[in-house]
Amino acid sequence: MSPVSTLTDLEAARAKVASEVSVDVLKGVDVPKSKIALSRSFNSDTITYPTDEMMAYASEASRGDDVYQADQSTLALEAHVAKITGKEAGLFCASGTMTNQLGIRTHLLSPPHSVLCDARAHVHRNEAGGIAHHSQATTLPVIPENGHHLTLKDVKAAVILGDNVHVAPTRLISLENTLNGTIFPQDEIVAISEYAHSVGIKMHLDGARIWNVAAETGTSLHVLCDPFDSVSLCLSKGIGAPIGSILVGSHEFIARARWFRKMFGGGWRQSGHMAAAAAYALTHNFPLLAATHTLARKLEAGLRDIGVGILISETNMVFFDAPSVGIAYDELTKRAASLPAPLYVGGSRLVIHYQTSEKAVDDLLDLVQVMAEEKRKEGFVPGQVEQQPVDTGYPKLKEVFLRSGVKSTA
Ligand SMILES: Cc1ncc(COP(=O)(O)O)c(C=O)c1O
Repeated sequence: MSPVSTLTDLEAARAKVASEVSVDVLKGVDVPKSKIALSRSFNSDTITYPTDEMMAYASEASRGDDVYQADQSTLALEAHVAKITGKEAGLFCASGTMTNQLGIRTHLLSPPHSVLCDARAHVHRNEAGGIAHHSQATTLPVIPENGHHLTLKDVKAAVILGDNVHVAPTRLISLENTLNGTIFPQDEIVAISEYAHSVGIKMHLDGARIWNVAAETGTSLHVLCDPFDSVSLCLSKGIGAPIGSILVGSHEFIARARWFRKMFGGGWRQSGHMAAAAAYALTHNFPLLAATHTLARKLEAGLRDIGVGILISETNMVFFDAPSVGIAYDELTKRAASLPAPLYVGGSRLVIHYQTSEKAVDDLLDLVQVMAEEKRKEGFVPGQVEQQPVDTGYPKLKEVFLRSGVKSTA
C-alpha cells in the first residue's frame, strides 16, 4: 500500500476505503415473494417472517447495552418470562442451543458427571456435541420404553448414583417438551422431578416449544416449568420472533449463566429491538398457536383419508409415513417443489407455523392423493411395507424424522 502524503491524499484514501466498506443488502430482496414461500413451507416453525407490525414495535425499543445490563426492554422481557414461568430471573440469548448449553453448563460443576435425557433429545443429538464440549459431561441417552416419553421407571433404570469410580454420576436430567411435537405428561414430569431432587439431581427443561404445550392444554407456564430448576424457552420457533431464547432459573443460577454467556461469546449489546420483537410475538402470536394445531389435525386427517400412516401428530408437527402409500420422501419433496405454486416438504416431518396457509395444506393433500393414486396404478399395494420409514436399530423406538433433499428457498 502506498503511503498517504497529503491531506487530499488522505481524504481520497479514506473515501476509497469507505466505498469498499459500504454495502447495500436490500438489493434483490423480495419480501412478498419470500412471504408466499414461507406460507407454503412445511420444513420448520423457525422460518416465520417478522411482520411489519412486529418490526414497528421493535423499532421503539430501548437501545442500551445488555452486557452492562443497561437495556430496559431486554431486562423487562427477562423479568416477564421469569415471572410467568415462576422463576426468579431470566437471561435473553441468541439461540435455543445457547440457552440449553448454558443451562446445562451452569448446573454442572466438575467432572466426572453425566446428563440423563431422552435418546431423541435435541441437547443430545442436535447441539453439535455441546454437552461433551462445554460441560465435559457424558450424556445418558435413554430410549423411552413406551416409545413416547421417558417415565420414572426409565429414569430409575438408567440413572447413575453412588461413588463407583468406573462411572459418571448423573447430576442433571434434561427433558424436552414438546419433543417431536409430542406432549410430555405433566404427572410423569413431576414424578421424575421429585425423584431427581430426592437424590440430589437437578432438572433442566428444553422448552423450545413449551408454548405449544401451554397452547394445546391450557396449562400455565408456571405449572409446566415448576418441576424444573432451569428452563430454556425458544422465542424464534412457533412463537415467531426473529431471534432469541430465554433461560430462566434462580437469581444465583442466572447470574452464573450470564457469566458463562460472556465466556461463550454470547454477550450482546443493543439487544432491545430483539427483546421487543420477542415481546410482540408473545403478546400477538401465542394466541395463534392453537390454530396451528388445528391446521395440523386437518393435515393429519387428510393424510389418513388417503391411507397414509401417521407416526406422530399431537401439536403443530405431523410425522407421516410416505412409504405406507408407496411414496418415497425425496420423490414427494421434488414433486412439491416443482409445482407451479411450489410447496416445500423436507422429509417425514411436516411442521405448521402461524403463517402456514390453509391452501398450502389443501395443495399438499391433493399432491399426496395424486401420487398415491399413481403408485396404486403402478401396482403398489398398501400394507406391503412396514409402517415406519427408517429403523435405527433401537429395540423399540424407531426414527421418525427423516430429512430429504430439496430445501425451501425461503
Ligand atoms: C427442541 C429444540 N431445542 C432446542 C433447539 C435449538 O434452537 P436454536 O436453533 O435456536 O439453537 C431446537 C431447534 O430447532 C429445538 O427444536
